Amino acid sequence: MDIHPVPFISLGGLFEQDDVEAAVRVMNAATEPDGSFFPLPEETDFQDAFAEHEGAARAIALNSCGTGLDVCMMLLGLEPGDEVITTPLTFVCSATCASAQGAKVIFADIDHATMNLDPEAVRAKITDRTRAIIPVHFAGLACDLDAFDAISEETGIPIIYDAAHAVGTLYHGKPIGGRGLASCYSFQSLKNMTTLGEGGAVTSDDIEFAEQVRRKKTFGYVYGGPSVRVVTVGFNYRMTKVQYAVGLSQLAKIDRVTAARRERMLRMEQLLAEVDELILPVGHGPEHASHLYVARLDTDKVGFSAAELRDRLKDTYLIGTSHHYCLVWSWEAFRELAYDNSACPVAEKTSEQVMSLPIFPHTPFEDLDYIAWAMKDAVAALR
Ligand SMILES: Cc1ncc(COP(=O)(O)O)c(C=O)c1O
Repeated sequence: MDIHPVPFISLGGLFEQDDVEAAVRVMNAATEPDGSFFPLPEETDFQDAFAEHEGAARAIALNSCGTGLDVCMMLLGLEPGDEVITTPLTFVCSATCASAQGAKVIFADIDHATMNLDPEAVRAKITDRTRAIIPVHFAGLACDLDAFDAISEETGIPIIYDAAHAVGTLYHGKPIGGRGLASCYSFQSLKNMTTLGEGGAVTSDDIEFAEQVRRKKTFGYVYGGPSVRVVTVGFNYRMTKVQYAVGLSQLAKIDRVTAARRERMLRMEQLLAEVDELILPVGHGPEHASHLYVARLDTDKVGFSAAELRDRLKDTYLIGTSHHYCLVWSWEAFRELAYDNSACPVAEKTSEQVMSLPIFPHTPFEDLDYIAWAMKDAVAALR
């Protein structure tokens, strides 16, 4: 095969002409003497469309998923000594959102097959100080929502989902945005859709909770009634009018873009099926948002590490991979923070095994063949 670069981040085709036109339309309108850059009606239109797409009563758009998680933790009124349970195999902010409010982060182990937080492992870590559980829909595969619902009903502990990877994820045929107390989505540039590089949304079926999120994102203002009021300490966590407009055009085609990701990931599943040394991700299919394709090296079967394999893919075949994730507690910032460091053996092993392959909606099918060929060649050479 012809050795050629396949970088992990090659996002060509992130925007299409309709996205550009949406942005320009909003900017052009604002050049008129009576034009406005005030976010309405795009903000409302985008939020309504996103809520509908994710099956939630409300969506409140804000400037990132991390901000959404922060706001949810603020609204729970966490106090020092309170505990929040999450997975260690995630991006830092699934945990630091709780630390930032003074809570202690409790890490529970993941399920080996799905790499999602294991509800039974969570149960074992619940104490009378547990104030929230933050499961992450890893790579775009829904967590065991029914099991988390049951935990929440039994204990009264709210579930806040980190849905950064999960735009369009389904569970038993239905969108997931109304499950738990809230779900926090990301529209950062690497995600399945983007509002010009940064952005996010909190969805919820709890209309009062969604209204509290809205207040936090816009300085605590409440409009309507005889006069404007400021009813809580809030912040400016808003997106711009142009971002809402681009969000609308991205959302209009998200199902097509996700289908393109899915098609490529299912092709990769076929291409790698015979490689005994790999553990392929489960669940890629119509319910999966196909955000990431996270393969694992079965380190029980081989005498080399996933890091060596990733290095070989990069150095010999010019193929970039990514690592989802270093365990959250391994980052130096966590040395200063309160957290539970009891073992999570499945997550610890998984973190040593994972490698995300470069598969995006526009990845040429020849590149999939090339990646699979290089993977087999690299494994054979290291064997
Ligand atoms: C699992 C997870 N949660 C949260 C985030 C944060 O999203 P944002 O960059 O929109 O704050 C990310 C971003 O990479 C993520 O992967």
